[in-house]
Amino acid sequence: MIEGDWVPTVKPLFMVRICINKRLNTDRLPSCGGRGSRGLADALERLILAERIPASITRGPCMNNCLIGPNLKIQAGEFFNLQGDISDLAIEKIMIAIRAEAERRKATPSDGTRRN
Ligand code: FES
Repeated sequence: MIEGDWVPTVKPLFMVRICINKRLNTDRLPSCGGRGSRGLADALERLILAERIPASITRGPCMNNCLIGPNLKIQAGEFFNLQGDISDLAIEKIMIAIRAEAERRKATPSDGTRRN
């Protein structure tokens, strides 16, 4: 028996991709990493694990929307351009979309048919 805070992992059904690109800022353009997307990725990952949502966070490179970031995309789902807003309210809006995507995927088996 495993003791302590060990929590069995949940197999992810989808991923949430977050741009964590951070510029050296020689061109004075904003970047998602410069606007806090790395902390945002950590916060979302903690919430997903705490709620045992079958999703994974993927930290990735620039998504070519730097001026309106931090940017994140739910796989086959919603795209968020946070425009510098990484407030608790913004995080909750993202979590609502992630929960909805998890429910949608649980209701739809991989063969595309819908469960009743
Ligand atoms: S730095 Fe994130 S979209 Fe370019």
